[in-house]
Amino acid sequence: MTDKPVLLIPRKLAPAVLVRAQATYDVILNEDDHVMTRDELVAACQNVDAVLPCHSEHFNAEVVAALPARLKIIANHSVGVDHVDLGAAKARGIVVTNTPDVLSDATAEIAMLCMLGAARRGSEGDRMVREGRWNFWSPAFMVGRQVTGRRFGVLGMGRVGQITADRARGFGMEIHYHNRSRLSPDKEKGAIFHDTVESLLAVSDVLSLHCPSTPETTGLINARTLDLLPERAILVNTARGALVDEDALVAALKSGRLFAAGLDVFRDEPGGNPALADLDNVFMLPHIGSATFETRDAMGFRALDNLDAFFAGDAPVDRLV
Ligand code: DGY
Repeated sequence: MTDKPVLLIPRKLAPAVLVRAQATYDVILNEDDHVMTRDELVAACQNVDAVLPCHSEHFNAEVVAALPARLKIIANHSVGVDHVDLGAAKARGIVVTNTPDVLSDATAEIAMLCMLGAARRGSEGDRMVREGRWNFWSPAFMVGRQVTGRRFGVLGMGRVGQITADRARGFGMEIHYHNRSRLSPDKEKGAIFHDTVESLLAVSDVLSLHCPSTPETTGLINARTLDLLPERAILVNTARGALVDEDALVAALKSGRLFAAGLDVFRDEPGGNPALADLDNVFMLPHIGSATFETRDAMGFRALDNLDAFFAGDAPVDRLV
């Protein structure tokens, strides 16, 4: 027996993060890294003081209600917290934290990959070469859209949105954005503010989504809003699948109204959407926006910083409720 707090870590974390966690906590692991069912998660939480979950563990109202009084903090290994019912946690006095900032660079890189993969037909070309079907070349072959000099629309100009805008500036793109509040000039860096989503969409040759998934933003990109984009625009989503009505997206991609989409996130994860997978003009990745060695270390350390602060009686820097 030790008097260390007992910490449940339901997914496999970076080795250095685990070493640090085990120095401070009595760690309970999910050895084979499977996604726990609701019942497994509730059962695994019964004798712990804290849990360090990822976005794959859903702490909805029902799960939060089944947590023991002993469990005092959910220290997420993610910036997005749509998998946690914050209201339910707050009502039970459970502290919830996330890991902002540390994944912004990695996610901005993936947004650029999604943009370029969509614009330059990355997945179509890769499959053609890999499958031995590249038997032709001409100036009219595999022609895509150039992004240089085009308008890059950022929906949600928080930390990830701002860094993604910086990367797009590197392609000579003109930055437009919509955000709940306008940024100060030093953060705006010449980006053009739009006070409505509609106004932003109307000028976005490439639209990149960076807003949180909430009841208000669910299905924000739908048949009506897709129709506001310029002809043959490109949609990039590295935020959350729930922001997009995927049926409407499939229709817009099939009709050619949208040129292409670059997606790292989907309504159903893991797995994605077969109707999107059928389309050549979709470049797809399996939710790997923050999946770099550096960022996984940083996310794990940030979650541990929050736990350490909490158990030291201090305020965790990333406390949400
Ligand atoms: C996040 O941190 O929200 C990423 O999507 C990975 O979970």
